[in-house]
Amino acid sequence: MLDIAGKWVLLTGASRGVGRQVAGALADAGCNLILQSRNREHTAEQAELFRARGLTVHALAAELSDQSRVVELGQEALRISGGIDILFNNAAIQMPWHENMFTTDSDEFLASYQVNSIAPITLCNLMLPGMIERRFGRIVNVTSGVKDMPQLMAYAASKAALDKYVYDMAPHLGGTGVTMNLLDPGWLRTDLGGNEAPNPVESVLPGAMVPVLLEDGVSGKWFSAQDYRRD
Ligand SMILES: NC(=O)c1ccc[n+]([C@@H]2O[C@H](COP(=O)([O-])OP(=O)(O)OC[C@H]3O[C@@H](n4cnc5c(N)ncnc54)[C@H](OP(=O)(O)O)[C@@H]3O)[C@@H](O)[C@H]2O)c1
Repeated sequence: MLDIAGKWVLLTGASRGVGRQVAGALADAGCNLILQSRNREHTAEQAELFRARGLTVHALAAELSDQSRVVELGQEALRISGGIDILFNNAAIQMPWHENMFTTDSDEFLASYQVNSIAPITLCNLMLPGMIERRFGRIVNVTSGVKDMPQLMAYAASKAALDKYVYDMAPHLGGTGVTMNLLDPGWLRTDLGGNEAPNPVESVLPGAMVPVLLEDGVSGKWFSAQDYRRD
């Protein structure tokens, strides 16, 4: 398995849920961390704990519904790190359930596409050239297994757009030392997943780290975190 100690990571949505679990795993692996949420306060305590363990940690705030902030986040991460080695696009939003499945409005699609598709794709496009130049990079784009639920169509369609980006970009990454894959965390008890979800948030590990730690050049693959559960 890959040794990622000292690698620079940009992790979005680091403050809660899946992102918080992944931040802990990346810290355990000895990475330098750039943790994004909407407010630096949200990751402050976590960052302090990691720093106390000798890690380099930066907490950045960015509202991903604002495309100019997405670009600034990417540029700030590049300036701090000198080059991002691992991009973990985890942050996302989900619109409320539509009991009437024909009523998703255009604003919900636009908001979902901005945060769930355009923001992660923008960060990928900012990081990929440097990764390819340095012949190393790992990108994980967090998707969803949501299926046959038109009541959540804005969310589902925005994740499908992200999937399409990964699938069509993947063949161009062969032999570059850079991999880009999709991670489906499974239905988890988080703020987004809700209390009815069957799986505890901790069950996203160790699976969430699999596409980060792969040594070979697998790209364009769908990883399901629940496939790697230890219990
Ligand atoms: N939970 C599930 O059952 C499930 C299932 C399938 C896929 N997923 C995917 O897993 C990923 C993580 O989900 P989760 O359940 O951990 O979500 P969550 O608990 O709601 O956490 C969302 C994270 O994203 C950040 N975020 C939310 N809206 C943002 C915005 N507009 N701009 C910037 N940052 C924003 C939040 O930061 P703040 O602290 O600033 O709010 C927080 O760190 C998502 O991509 C989701 O689609 C989750």
